[in-house]
Amino acid sequence: MLDRESNVAPSGLGILIENGNIQSITDSQSLQSEYAPDWDGHESSSKFNIVDVNGCAIIPGLIDSHTHLIWAGDRSSEMRLRQSGMTYREISQIGGGIRRTVSSTRLMTTENMITTGMSRINEASKYGTCAMEVKSGYGLNTDTELKLLEAASFLSKNSEVSIYPTWLGAHDFPHEIDRSQYIDDILTEQLPKVAEQGIAKWCDVFCEDGWYSNEETESIVSHAKEFGLDSRLHVDEFVDSDGLALAAELGSVSADHVAKSNPNSRQKASDAGTMQTFLPGTPYVLGHSLDLPFSECIENDWAFSLATDFNPNCRILSLPLVANICCTRMGLDPLAALIASTINPATTLGDQNISGRIVEGESANLNIVWSTDIDGWCQTPGENPFSHNIISGNIV
Ligand code: NIG
Ligand code: FE
Repeated sequence: MLDRESNVAPSGLGILIENGNIQSITDSQSLQSEYAPDWDGHESSSKFNIVDVNGCAIIPGLIDSHTHLIWAGDRSSEMRLRQSGMTYREISQIGGGIRRTVSSTRLMTTENMITTGMSRINEASKYGTCAMEVKSGYGLNTDTELKLLEAASFLSKNSEVSIYPTWLGAHDFPHEIDRSQYIDDILTEQLPKVAEQGIAKWCDVFCEDGWYSNEETESIVSHAKEFGLDSRLHVDEFVDSDGLALAAELGSVSADHVAKSNPNSRQKASDAGTMQTFLPGTPYVLGHSLDLPFSECIENDWAFSLATDFNPNCRILSLPLVANICCTRMGLDPLAALIASTINPATTLGDQNISGRIVEGESANLNIVWSTDIDGWCQTPGENPFSHNIISGNIV
């Protein structure tokens, strides 16, 4: 899986970018003599904008395949509750957690949602993100779920970062109606409207003990499939319910969290082509143990991705920070972390413009690292490791 030799570019290479695409990757001396013969290290009459990276490493644009980008409110008070020993479930049962964020998000206008989303996207792009999946899920009624997806859809057309919206109506249960009534609303009202408006690419469900059962998840995903929506699911975050195996059976493109999944489910996911997406920021902020099975995945050749899971509890928009947690605390190889933040999540997006690679003929999504060593991309936890972020050929 890891082939360090073929993944590390020799130094002295230059990249020629034209019309947002990588035209050629070749010796920088010959690029300079052909395109900017009078360049003196500062100025040139060439029509090309020249960036001298001084031998620093260049990595592909990062791909964050799991975010809850748009919501309002403040859950800072929940840290003390966690420190007093309350679990995520218990905090939710006393009115905190997802439903607390739902109350504040329902007060947002679509414009608020767009402004909030755009400022968070801009922040993520500084940390090298060029493509991002964005979930709804803090509306839990048709009106607000649709507004969240309309905002995400607007952002997908108006942001330099590529945005891919996911409908997560089944994130929790709203307090005002009972469980079965809400599932009925989801299937008969929310889903048809989401599909009709074409504002989501996938359906997601929080499949976890205490939230949506495997049976409920299966029913929602099957209905969504009839409306043309594929799935990416939250599974096995706190307990193993065979949620990853279920995602594999349902043909989900990705199964996320998967912290507690068993090896049989992991093998099934690998066979089915369901990406296992780890979200290490969540156990980190919840104070849970950091023991994700990266080495087991690498030994068994089970493909996996990393994502931020940006949400009101886990306010991490930086994939380099997520990778840093994995490398410093769980022994993950920085290059494996890079593959898990680029090429692997790209395969779940179904967009040929986003490949997570630096290849001639493809989109020029690049980050210039502060270090000449590629491993430096994830070793500055409190600082931005990139001097430049380039999306579709533009320096952002
Ligand atoms: O993926 N676990 C479910 N959803 C989010 C957290 C949502 C929240 O706490 O607001 C997650 O971690
Ligand atoms: Fe999540």
